[in-house]
Amino acid sequence: MRRGRIGKVAIVTVLTAIVFAIDTGTDLEIATPVFYIMVILIAVGMFSRREVIRLAVVCMVLTVFSATLTRTGSQEAGVINSGISIAAIAITTWLALRVVSAESAAYETRAQLIRIARVNSLGELAASIAHEVNQPLSAIATSGNACLRWLGADPPNLDRARLAATRIVEDANRASGIVGRIRQQVRGKGPRKTKTALNAVVLDALALAQGEMARHGTVVRTDLAPDLPMILGDRIQLQQVLGNLILNAIEASAGLPPARRVITLSTGVARGMVHLRVKDEGIGVPEQDLPLLFDAFWTTKDGGTGMGLAICRTIVEAHGGAMNVALPEPCGLEVTVSLPVRAKS
Ligand SMILES: Nc1ncnc2c1ncn2[C@@H]1O[C@H](COP(=O)(O)OP(=O)(O)OP(=O)(O)O)[C@@H](O)[C@H]1O
Ligand SMILES: [Mg+2]
Repeated sequence: MRRGRIGKVAIVTVLTAIVFAIDTGTDLEIATPVFYIMVILIAVGMFSRREVIRLAVVCMVLTVFSATLTRTGSQEAGVINSGISIAAIAITTWLALRVVSAESAAYETRAQLIRIARVNSLGELAASIAHEVNQPLSAIATSGNACLRWLGADPPNLDRARLAATRIVEDANRASGIVGRIRQQVRGKGPRKTKTALNAVVLDALALAQGEMARHGTVVRTDLAPDLPMILGDRIQLQQVLGNLILNAIEASAGLPPARRVITLSTGVARGMVHLRVKDEGIGVPEQDLPLLFDAFWTTKDGGTGMGLAICRTIVEAHGGAMNVALPEPCGLEVTVSLPVRAKS
């Protein structure tokens, strides 16, 4: 028997013996054995269900035994007191065991909920990998087709084919970089932060989104603040954030008249934070839906996963930053990313 258990058995035994001694040794005409209830309530937290039932039976037997040993006092009162005590012990044991089993059922339900939440976040993880890798993969397929076309031409256009092959390699590296960052996140590691110029990230992301913007006839305006302070950031992850925001802006203004297919990207600094704004003049969002935009799987698009903004927010928050959305006049949506200025070391 382990030491802890010996201690518990000793406590219960001593308490039981005390109640038995008081019950047997005094001639008080009160139901002294009800104090066995106290012993049972203590035991419920220490022993298994079966052991508590056994203890309750022992207490009841001791109650009867003690009544036969007590010679003083009225016999009738003794019988009534013993009856009250036995009933009280039985009812208390039953109630206490019910409470314990209800508690363990609640505990089990909570454990189940945690398991479900974990499965959900695994689902989110799978969805985020699919979402982020989808873009470079479709770019690889497009460049691969172009490469084949240039090679199949008569005569083959080797320069163009080489360019397309270079784009394939770049996009494949980008996809593998994204998967690497996601694996890092899963292992609980934060982003790989280095001194980064946000304006350069904006230009990188624009270069990557060029094909998509041309396809939709979207025009981009930039208003990048000169002398923007450096931030500490993971360049690939920040490119992912911008890529998602630009893609959403393209999608929100697709099919609208050319005058509304305009995206404005601006950067600035205020109160120790560097801000990046992506504004479009697209269809916008009903005001009451604004708080839902960052929820995983919340989408209004037929083929959408609703993961884009959720991923953006996870990345930005891992950088100590925040994201906000607003409805600009007269139309469209403005998403702001705020990131802390790199502390001077
Ligand atoms: N620039 C925007 N203008 C209007 N609505 C937007 C804009 N950006 C996001 N939204 C709204 O927020 C929702 C969630 O965006 P999110 O990027 O998370 O997912 P999605 O774009 O729907 O799906 P996916 O990113 O997989 O294509 C969108 O479905 C859309 O309703
Ligand atoms: Mg999106």
